[in-house]
Amino acid sequence: MKVAILGYGKVGMATFHTFMHMPEIHELVLCGRNKDKIEGELTDFKDSIALNSNIKTRIGGGGFEMTAGADVIVYTIGPSIKDCNTDRLSLSKVNIDIAHEVAEELNKYNRDAIIVVISNPVDVLVSALMRFTGRPRGKVIGTGTLLDSARLRRYLAEMLDIQPRDVSAYILGEHGNSSCIIWRWTSVMGMPIDRFLSSQIGMNVSLSSEKLLKVIRRAGLKIVEKKGSTSFGVAAAAAQIVNAIIYDTHQILVVSVALEGEYGIDGVALSVPCYVSSCGASVIASATMTKDELDALAASAEVIRSNS
Ligand code: 2OP
Repeated sequence: MKVAILGYGKVGMATFHTFMHMPEIHELVLCGRNKDKIEGELTDFKDSIALNSNIKTRIGGGGFEMTAGADVIVYTIGPSIKDCNTDRLSLSKVNIDIAHEVAEELNKYNRDAIIVVISNPVDVLVSALMRFTGRPRGKVIGTGTLLDSARLRRYLAEMLDIQPRDVSAYILGEHGNSSCIIWRWTSVMGMPIDRFLSSQIGMNVSLSSEKLLKVIRRAGLKIVEKKGSTSFGVAAAAAQIVNAIIYDTHQILVVSVALEGEYGIDGVALSVPCYVSSCGASVIASATMTKDELDALAASAEVIRSNS
C-alpha cells in the first residue's frame, strides 16, 4: 500500500508521523512544492527511523509526480485557522482556489487513489476535489465530524470516568458551527446515555445536548486558542479512515461524503455514517432520524452549500 501526503504544515507532518508507524503502509511519500522543506522533514524522519527498528515503511517525497501509484492520497494543503474566533468557512475561497491548482497537477499523475481530505473547510473541499479531480463520490472522503464525534466520546468518558471507546456518540453535518448532535444515538453498553447516567450511583446529572453540542463545536477552536493549531487529533481520524481502506473493514465511520438524495440532501458533502472499505466510503442511507434531526442536517447542508 502506497500513501501520499500532500502538504507539510503541522497537520501534514502529524499525519506523516502517525502513518509512518502503520506497518501496512509500505511506502509513504510527502508531496508539495517546497522541495527544501520536504527534504528537511524527510531527513529528520529518517533519523528517527534509524533509531526505531520497528518502522519498516519506506519514506520519500518530492513534487506531485510522487503521487503516481499511490492507493490513498491525504490532502492537508492550504491555510488553517489561526484565530479561535474564525469560522472554518472563511477559508473557503482561498482553499478552493488552491485545491483547483493542486488538482490540475495531481490529475497528471494519479486518477484513481482514494483522496482523504483534512484541510478546512473540509466539507466544502470534499465537493471541490471531487469536481476538480473527476472522482466519483465515496472516493473523496473528508475526516469531517469523525473528529467531533471522538471529542464528544472523550468528553462524556472523562465525565463518567470510563474509556472513550466504551461510549457511542455521533455528531453529523458540517465539521463546524452548524454540526448536529444525534443525542438518541449516544449510549454506553447499548444503554441510552441518560439512562446510563441515572443508573450510576451519585450520577444525578441531567445533560443538555444543546450545551454539549456548543462545547464540542468549540473544542477544536479552544485548542487553537491555546497552541495555535490542532494536528494530532485529526491525524488520528485520517489514520482510522486509511486503516479501514487498507484492511477493507467496512467499518462504520462518520465521515464527509457528497450526498445524492440521502436524508433529503443532494449535491452537498457533509458527515453521515458510512461504511468505509477498500472501495472508499458508502453512505448508510437507512439510519432513522426524527424530523428535528433531519431539519438540523438540512440546515447544516445549506450552510455548506452557500459557502461552496
Ligand atoms: C479541528 O477541529 C481546527 O478543524 C480543526 O481540530
